[in-house]
Amino acid sequence: MKMGKGKTVVSAAFLSKTYQTSDIKVEVLKDVNLKIEKGEFAVICGASGSGKTTLLNIIGGIDKPTRGEIIVFGEELSLKDEDFLSDYRCNNIGFVFQAYNLVSTLTVAENVAFPMEWTRKPADNIRKRVEELMETVGLEHRADHFPFQLSGGEQQRVAFARALANDPPLLLVDEPTGNLDTKTSLKVIQMLQKLKHDGKTVIVATHDERILALAEQKLLLEDGRLVSLE
Ligand SMILES: Nc1ncnc2c1ncn2[C@@H]1O[C@H](COP(=O)(O)OP(=O)(O)O)[C@@H](O)[C@H]1O
Ligand SMILES: [Mg+2]
Repeated sequence: MKMGKGKTVVSAAFLSKTYQTSDIKVEVLKDVNLKIEKGEFAVICGASGSGKTTLLNIIGGIDKPTRGEIIVFGEELSLKDEDFLSDYRCNNIGFVFQAYNLVSTLTVAENVAFPMEWTRKPADNIRKRVEELMETVGLEHRADHFPFQLSGGEQQRVAFARALANDPPLLLVDEPTGNLDTKTSLKVIQMLQKLKHDGKTVIVATHDERILALAEQKLLLEDGRLVSLE
């Protein structure tokens, strides 16, 4: 399922998200407007709790807006059912989660293979692609280890490899250096640089200055509103 041909990959109009629990109403996103073009490297910054993860989840079809429009690859996501959305995610989105979200009972290689098995790629192709990805992230010697045997930085690189497995046109990356020390985070930044160089559309939530330096579009979430920086 490859979708749309326009230059705009993500467009949001008057996008709002409200969480309503019994007595408290949290307005996380208020009338967010945004446009991200094919091949663009965009950064969303904002204080902790400002809604960065919520916005990435809505773009990735993991969460739905309360109001407003979210069009990704020409499809209005808020109108789609879960069947469509799981297909959409598998074929179009590479998600690198803030907490990595690796499957603890699967080895590194099995974690990376998972999205390709989900989309029923031939076993031979999967094996070759896993090898290639393990090299890309410099973890070929750790393929048979389990996530708990790896450091945070290594788990983050596995999460990148898994996100890239199906060669998705859009990468959503949530605070990739947030939990890493300076040295380890450099490797992650190099991977982001490569994605930019390869012409992928990339959206990163971060306040890391070194990642902001790569941005072609800088967006700031403040009090639920998204403002463009410079
Ligand atoms: N399921 C939920 N129910 C209620 N509030 C939520 C829920 N998920 C997130 N929030 C709230 O939404 C706000 C934005 O969260 P989040 O998108 O995770 O921010 P960020 O990623 O910028 O730190 C926070 O105040 C958070 O507590
Ligand atoms: Mg977050």
